[in-house]
Amino acid sequence: MTDKLIVFDTTLRDGEQSPGASMTRDEKVRIARALERMRVDVIEAGFPIASPGDFESVKAVADAVTDSTVCGLARALDRDIDRAGEALKGANSARIHTFIATSPIHMKMKLRMQPDAVLAQAVAAVKRARKYTDNVEFSPEDAGRSELDFLCRVLEAVIDAGATTVNIPDTVGYNLPHQFGALIGNLMERVPNADKAVFSVHCHNDLGLAVANSLAAVTAGARQVECTINGLGERAGNAALEEVVMAVSTRHDVFDCTVDHIDRTQIVPCSRLVSSITGFTVQPNKAIVGANAFAHESGIHQDGVLKSRETYEIMRAEDVGWSTNRMVLGKHSGRNAFRSRLAELGVTFASEEELNAAFVRFKELADKKHEIFDDDLQALVTEASLEAENERVKLVSLKVCSETGETPHAAVTLNVDGEEQTGEADGSGPVDATFKAIESVVRSGTELQLYSVNNITSGTDSQGEVTVRLEQGGRIVNGQGADTDIVIASAKAYVNALNKIFTPEDREHPQV
Ligand code: KIV
Ligand code: ZN
Repeated sequence: MTDKLIVFDTTLRDGEQSPGASMTRDEKVRIARALERMRVDVIEAGFPIASPGDFESVKAVADAVTDSTVCGLARALDRDIDRAGEALKGANSARIHTFIATSPIHMKMKLRMQPDAVLAQAVAAVKRARKYTDNVEFSPEDAGRSELDFLCRVLEAVIDAGATTVNIPDTVGYNLPHQFGALIGNLMERVPNADKAVFSVHCHNDLGLAVANSLAAVTAGARQVECTINGLGERAGNAALEEVVMAVSTRHDVFDCTVDHIDRTQIVPCSRLVSSITGFTVQPNKAIVGANAFAHESGIHQDGVLKSRETYEIMRAEDVGWSTNRMVLGKHSGRNAFRSRLAELGVTFASEEELNAAFVRFKELADKKHEIFDDDLQALVTEASLEAENERVKLVSLKVCSETGETPHAAVTLNVDGEEQTGEADGSGPVDATFKAIESVVRSGTELQLYSVNNITSGTDSQGEVTVRLEQGGRIVNGQGADTDIVIASAKAYVNALNKIFTPEDREHPQV
């Protein structure tokens, strides 16, 4: 029998440790639902002890997700483990992931602990976590630079203490594939009770080797890979889920495990969702999910593909969720057609009111843009949830003048806490003038960290999707907005970010 490779996604935890990639609780729930649709096995939802807001996010994901296991991270400390156990109470299937560093440099310089004390703390942590769930994962942090004999002792002890998964992190992305594969092979051979736990790997991408190292480990016997959508994560990121999954499925001839349980058609929609929420755009030449991943430019390649697709394609774009972006609906489409196409895209509405509100938006968009594609529909739904977030500041109207030889000028009307207020400003361009006009009303004192625009579909009538990242006192938020007019989309994104700043979330970005 071929083993199943357990796909453990840590976009919501390690992924959020990318500088600037902050997510609100509701955004985490949206991403978790998308991961569940993809049928990933384990979703690491956060680090509950980090702040009350992190706790609430893990709890919200645990309550929302039913099919995937929901995991919370905890240092090997009683208070961390108790907090994770508490946050995961509502989960259908819960895992506690506890860790302590085992490399000489981490033990000496960071923990200031002797190896035997580290081992004892690891064992105590696993035993405590087992009081909350029988699904316990242990990670020897910086395993990639730890001594083999000590690692073997720690792993044997934590498996005896009840760890059901032992995860080997290459925390600083230092290993090369042949070394990392050999490390996993050695551990599985030398740890006497290795057969009592699943061996997992967690690779960072500092040398661009996270996926290669993960695959080498799978070849050596690892049966869980920890990864993130779009390879987000601390520093250079983690192994990209889409690359690991597609490598194992495309090269099933060389792996003795499968990822057949993963719905690969959800990969591209999930990648887009994560990119739009975090503001981390995907580079065009990124494997699997980049805009050019399936594009053939040279005449020779195009000719080959037209004659036989397999000449230059090893995967089919539609198998990873690149839709032909077919025109699905138009101005005359009815509510039922709208509802059923969204259901096909995995979007359902909690109430008739929600459906009606989205349908009104659809009609407005159809007046501006004759052909409504799947991606437009997704943006429309995102837009509805963004507006629901805008509790304190709403964009009422915007007028912008931009003329050759003249200074751009913007006049904005906002509804702030129920009261309409107007502001005007000049700027170096229409977007700059708009942001300054908004600031003249709200005086948030925030700092703009990122402004980015992407077209949702092709053509000049496409909607522009804008991300605005604001920072205030160390807190980072990302706001989004979409519109066929990119200046209006920019204003919506700025207002969305302001609402997040004005809604105190009981949490700080993990980087802070
Ligand atoms: O990179 C790392 O070592 C981690 C651990 C917490 C697994 O993220
Ligand atoms: Zn990590």
